[in-house]
Amino acid sequence: MPSITFDDLDEGMRQVMTASGRGKLDWASSRMVVLGKLGSEIRERGHLSGRRIAMSLHPEAKTGVLALTLARAGAEVRLTTCNPLSTDDEVSLALRTFDVTPGTLEVRARKGIDRDEYFRALNWALDMSPQIVIDDGGDLVRLLHTERRDLLKDVLGGCEETTTGIHRLKAMAAEGRLDFPMMDANDCAMKHLFDNRYGTGQSTLDGIMTATNLCIAGMEAVVAGYGWCGRGIAMRLKGMGAIVTVTEVDPVKAVEAVMDGFRVRRMEDASRTASLIITATGCCDIVGENIIRGLPDGCILANSGHFDNEIDVSYLRRTAVSVKRSRRHVEDLIMPDGRRLHLLSEGRLVNLAAGQGHPVEIMDMSFAIQAAGAELIAMKGRELPKDVVPFPEDLDRRIAILKLSAMGQSLDVLTSEQERYLSSWEEGT
Ligand code: NAI
Repeated sequence: MPSITFDDLDEGMRQVMTASGRGKLDWASSRMVVLGKLGSEIRERGHLSGRRIAMSLHPEAKTGVLALTLARAGAEVRLTTCNPLSTDDEVSLALRTFDVTPGTLEVRARKGIDRDEYFRALNWALDMSPQIVIDDGGDLVRLLHTERRDLLKDVLGGCEETTTGIHRLKAMAAEGRLDFPMMDANDCAMKHLFDNRYGTGQSTLDGIMTATNLCIAGMEAVVAGYGWCGRGIAMRLKGMGAIVTVTEVDPVKAVEAVMDGFRVRRMEDASRTASLIITATGCCDIVGENIIRGLPDGCILANSGHFDNEIDVSYLRRTAVSVKRSRRHVEDLIMPDGRRLHLLSEGRLVNLAAGQGHPVEIMDMSFAIQAAGAELIAMKGRELPKDVVPFPEDLDRRIAILKLSAMGQSLDVLTSEQERYLSSWEEGT
């Protein structure tokens, strides 16, 4: 396992990686215009000045830009990962070299750490006794409510990035176990409509193509879950010529998938002829032992849901008579009956582990929401309920207007006559 502090790198390699990481950060930053604008305003207002912020996100370039933005707004920031495989090591190194006055930024993250190191890194982030937490998936918040309860008194609140984290927070709140407000970034239209759908759609395909170098056109692909992520993945697969089947448990989403032009089948049936299965449900055991037994020779398994429990990786490895890696992100498992199955990125988020994560313009919107959330918590954390808290409605509109302008698009404006018409009931045909 690599050392999380990069002590094993020689100076030359460290310099090369740092320079590349700085380039990635500069590139992302130049196109994250919404975050740039909101970040300058937040900096001017000064509410984050001196605030301690612990962040557990995927530490790659776009996340780096968010961390730099918060630190430059005066916060003391500690950034670590929310997944053992999603760090961009070049970015992790480069982030240590920026001037972030008046704030500070410390980073502890490296790709390929094991579970113990992962929890050590989360604990390191919490050692700063944060006032604000920015979480992705809920591990940081869970740790605060279990082993690190001594730190709860200082926490004003935080923001959660993803669907799975929100599920966990809602479960905590329902049991009366959530001790501070958590803003629901995922619920913002400007987050899930674009990040979960177009972001996951594009980056999942990017991850699979980078991992395998195979042709998507003509593949028989199965997408598990037709939520925001599944819709995006299925749409992009179809666009690239795959023959796509969807699996769902929600009848409404299943009908939507059919009307969008996909077959909907049970996983048991769909998986038997699949060349590629992608899970994106946020649920566990989607490709479990029963399904694995029926998979055809050569089937590729990838996951884009938050945790690595959608595909039963442990059963695969336990049962295989041989496991080897043909490519960096491809594990080849030979099953006792001779079938070859291929697991991508250890069943972890394939778009971040093998790909580059979501496109920059998408994360511009998601992280503008996170920055706004951090400021809101700094200002009003003590007044908000100890619950999952929606963002104020006008934030989506503000971000949409900034994004439209950045994309060179323009909106029509209702005339006063149109406004009057839309709010009246007397005029018909
Ligand atoms: P969602 O709630 O919109 O969709 C999940 C869908 O899966 C629902 O339609 C649900 O009915 C379906 N589902 C649940 N259990 C199922 C089962 N056993 N079989 C078939 N379908 C099932 O959630 P969303 O936003 O699409 O997120 C899905 C997962 O992806 C979550 O874990 C989320 O945290 C993660 N995520 C990953 C991203 C990435 O970068 N890879 C980005 C955003 C979210």
